[in-house]
Amino acid sequence: MLRHLLNPLDFSVEELGTLLDLAFDIKAHPENYRESCKGKKLATCFYEPSTRTRLSFEAAMLNLGGMVLGFSSADSSSAAKGESVADTIRVISCYADICAMRHPKEGAPLVASQFSSIPVINAGDGGHQHPTQTLTDLMTIRAEQGRLEDLDIGLCGDLKFGRTVHSLINAMVRYKGNRFTLISPGELRVPEYITQDVLRSTHSPYTETTDLDGAMPQLDILYMTRIQKERFFNEDEYVRLKDSYILDAKKMKAAKPGMSVLHPLPRVNEISVEVDADSRAAYFRQANYGVYVRMALILTLLGLA
Ligand code: CP
Repeated sequence: MLRHLLNPLDFSVEELGTLLDLAFDIKAHPENYRESCKGKKLATCFYEPSTRTRLSFEAAMLNLGGMVLGFSSADSSSAAKGESVADTIRVISCYADICAMRHPKEGAPLVASQFSSIPVINAGDGGHQHPTQTLTDLMTIRAEQGRLEDLDIGLCGDLKFGRTVHSLINAMVRYKGNRFTLISPGELRVPEYITQDVLRSTHSPYTETTDLDGAMPQLDILYMTRIQKERFFNEDEYVRLKDSYILDAKKMKAAKPGMSVLHPLPRVNEISVEVDADSRAAYFRQANYGVYVRMALILTLLGLA
């Protein structure tokens, strides 16, 4: 059966557990998977810039013995001539076995899935969802904290436009005992549909605050995010908000010894480089977990797991 990944909730908690088990097994025994996708092709169709997502997908397929093709900007594809996503995916379906798509328009990968004969993976659609970042985040949290339940999770920065934040909250409310601290300037608060339809409807405890220092001591996870210039319509507003939070060594002194700092990356200056040497800084390990979890996802969607 043809299966896509468009939303982090497309997999049940049980399926996610199986996928993460596979990702950990791949990490432990990469040699067992070197030829798993021999003869298979991954298309990466990226209409928006990316470093980690596109290259980790490509690394994942190459690690599995498969091949990759694709484009890295709308300008270098026939989208620049006005081709629709629906027509593009019909054609890509003739060239590849699976497709990872990033698009600035919310819902574009969903549209692609409706016209595709190969699995479509949403690699980020506008300010909406970024499900493979969520898989990466779940693997990182399980690796760093040893569990996905009973955690105090702080999310800090641009909680309004941050698709990784929306996807992670959607995913973490499904595990029991998690508590959320939403740290942002008033202008960049989590949208009402997340607080109402996700947090309140699942009776998940949460608080909203502007105070990162005050939140630090209780957190098991601090998920930092970039203030995203590309999502602002008003440059002055971006300039006013861009340095709202800067995590530095002084702030880290208030954190638990076992706390983990995650960030989907890229960072600009919301985490000072002095924090990189702190063993609690997990964001570069997180980028590495992204390769294993995407290998597990490719195998799963191709029916090869
Ligand atoms: N985390 C993430 O999506 O990074 P890229 O934009 O570089 O893919």
